[in-house]
Amino acid sequence: MIHFNKLTKQFDLVTKNNQFSLGILESGHIVELYFGKKIAHNGLDYCIENNAHASYMADTDSKKGFQLELLPLLFPSFGNPDLRSSAYQFYFQNGEKLSDFRYNSHHIYRGKKEITDLPASFGNKEIVTTIDISLKDDIAQMEMIISISTFDDYDVFTQHVKVQNFSKETVTIEKLLSLNLDFMRDDFDLCLLTGAWSRETHLQRHPLHRGIQGIDSKRGASGHGQNPFVALVDPGTTLDDGQVIGANLIYSGNFVAHAEVDMYQQTRLQLGINPHDFEWHLLSGKSFETPEAVLVFAENGLNKMAQTFHRFYKECLINPNFADKERPILINNWEATYFDFNRPKLLSLANEAASLGIELFVLDDGWFGNRHSDKSALGDWQPNEKKLGGSLQSLIREIKGKGLLFGLWVEPEMVSKDSELFRTHPDWIIYEKRRVPQESRNQYVLDLSKIEVQQHIISFMTELLSSHSIDYIKWDMNRNITDAGSSHLLHSKELGHRYILGLYRILDQLTSAFPHVLFESCAGGGGRYDPGMLFYTPQIWPSDDTDAIERLSIQSGSSLVYPPSTMGCHISAIPNHQVARNTSLSTRSIVAQQGNLGYELDLTQLTFEEKQEIRKQIILYKNERKLLQFGMHTQLTVNDSSNECAWQKQNSQTIVVSHVYKLAKPNVLSKRIKLKQLPKKCNYKLQGTNKVYTSDELMIIGLSLPNPTSDFMATRFTLEKLNEK
Ligand code: GLA
Repeated sequence: MIHFNKLTKQFDLVTKNNQFSLGILESGHIVELYFGKKIAHNGLDYCIENNAHASYMADTDSKKGFQLELLPLLFPSFGNPDLRSSAYQFYFQNGEKLSDFRYNSHHIYRGKKEITDLPASFGNKEIVTTIDISLKDDIAQMEMIISISTFDDYDVFTQHVKVQNFSKETVTIEKLLSLNLDFMRDDFDLCLLTGAWSRETHLQRHPLHRGIQGIDSKRGASGHGQNPFVALVDPGTTLDDGQVIGANLIYSGNFVAHAEVDMYQQTRLQLGINPHDFEWHLLSGKSFETPEAVLVFAENGLNKMAQTFHRFYKECLINPNFADKERPILINNWEATYFDFNRPKLLSLANEAASLGIELFVLDDGWFGNRHSDKSALGDWQPNEKKLGGSLQSLIREIKGKGLLFGLWVEPEMVSKDSELFRTHPDWIIYEKRRVPQESRNQYVLDLSKIEVQQHIISFMTELLSSHSIDYIKWDMNRNITDAGSSHLLHSKELGHRYILGLYRILDQLTSAFPHVLFESCAGGGGRYDPGMLFYTPQIWPSDDTDAIERLSIQSGSSLVYPPSTMGCHISAIPNHQVARNTSLSTRSIVAQQGNLGYELDLTQLTFEEKQEIRKQIILYKNERKLLQFGMHTQLTVNDSSNECAWQKQNSQTIVVSHVYKLAKPNVLSKRIKLKQLPKKCNYKLQGTNKVYTSDELMIIGLSLPNPTSDFMATRFTLEKLNEK
């Protein structure tokens, strides 16, 4: 029992299957009593029984043995006797830096409030309950509200924090995270999605060790190698067994996702805006809100966590106009032509596309200003009528005349050094006045913290979208933010967050003004594959790497958190432009059908047989599109995960199983692939055969895989449920 400091209150925040229990100590500190599967209990105060054996640790409030450092705290402050990493730190005008927020009151209500100026999950009174816990620091004259929402049927918790400054002075926020979770144990594996440009979202997993470990971004965007996702899993956790705690930040800028293991084998998991190069000067009377963290507990392995995130993002984050809307099959001209195109070339590509059954034509980089390479013209968004052989609208009309939708590439956050925009507004870029800013891909980043820059982007995009019949926009961002100083802000450490707020404001206005336009976000591939962007752009381009084999790790990593309907997956030419690999059209198609199918190659160069095969792929995809894009997605367990990858899509009627071998091996017996999560006692007919399997057979014995006769061989099975007689 807690002799020193009794619990005055206990809150059990519960969802359908899970529970997050908090306690308020007499001292006003808030402790995390339990996070996990829903349990029957008779009070959980014993969970934080103080062992008081550790020495050389400060007491709290002069109470002997009341040691905060040995307690799992909801939101630890800086300067108290808990010397692990704090969840926040403020700096006061008199030079002081300690703060001490204690419980003040709480308010529980159905539904959930919006977060000012930031994307966040949504839900009405039917599906979500929120507790706002108010804490106060009377000396600082500040209030902090920790809002935790429980999405009952979704088994999801979300958390964000708001601070309000009631003092007469400005307070500097040096750190204010979104989530802090403490565990009185350290026997976890840490899972992260990491990589680099062209090999994004690879799952990395390792046992926790002493110290701080994790991932963060200082790039001005979430980043190719730093997805704002972190999970702690029990050792031995597999795709389908073991407890998983997954957290994801609805934010697209610099973030931190850390686990800290201290000297007492306790673990502290933290997620939020990266305190590195961050400050916010909170004026008297003002408030600041953090991005929202999404927290998932899954009892049954990584698949369950992934499926929980998928459903939640589809129904409570992604724009409802598109959440369920089938995504068109597209042709993108980038790898087909790069910058080297003219009207006849585009039209012949569109002709082929239409004849193959493709639905959307996307004109990528190079359609505007003096843009013939990546050396110039970003910012000069007037269509290059000479190159396009007429007005953009006339080209769109002609392409639409073939029965295609039309999409356009833009990179609005950037400006080329060689551009009219930069010559006119050299001070619109991110730079510091005394230094020469660095170029990357011959371009600078526009300073989106400036209202005039935001207005400029909103105006030219509004003009573009209102004077052309555009159905889809690929919104790109092709460099990191370096030279992250400011030419106009008094406090340039606010730049990173102000940039993201500016970006969100722009996206908010454009997506509201043009609700029919499907936005796909891209940042040189997956440099910003995060839930912040997903809120505005229901699709994201996961990687510039279009090789089918490279895509296996990228797409299984992305789909661990983000719904497959958010992944753009294209079939490109061989030898592949990134890794020069040759894979069959069938393998490329099976892999691309894991998400939203597209083509990114010169269709006019295909043989008659290849075109026939593509026609068939497209008919098949259209038939099964709802299932492939929105069906329940499950990663399957393979015999050798270094050489194979398999996944299953299912709805109430149909199952599609896809399996890929990387390298062929000689003289091996053929293997089986077992299906998962099927309804009991059902019969399924394997398409193309007369064979009927029971769900037990499919899950326990599995389907027979053909032996790989060549490298990169993929197989696909479709099974239809037979109706009970
Ligand atoms: C980035 C994108 C590509 C393509 C090019 C155009 O690299 O990721 O898909 O749009 O820009 O410059």
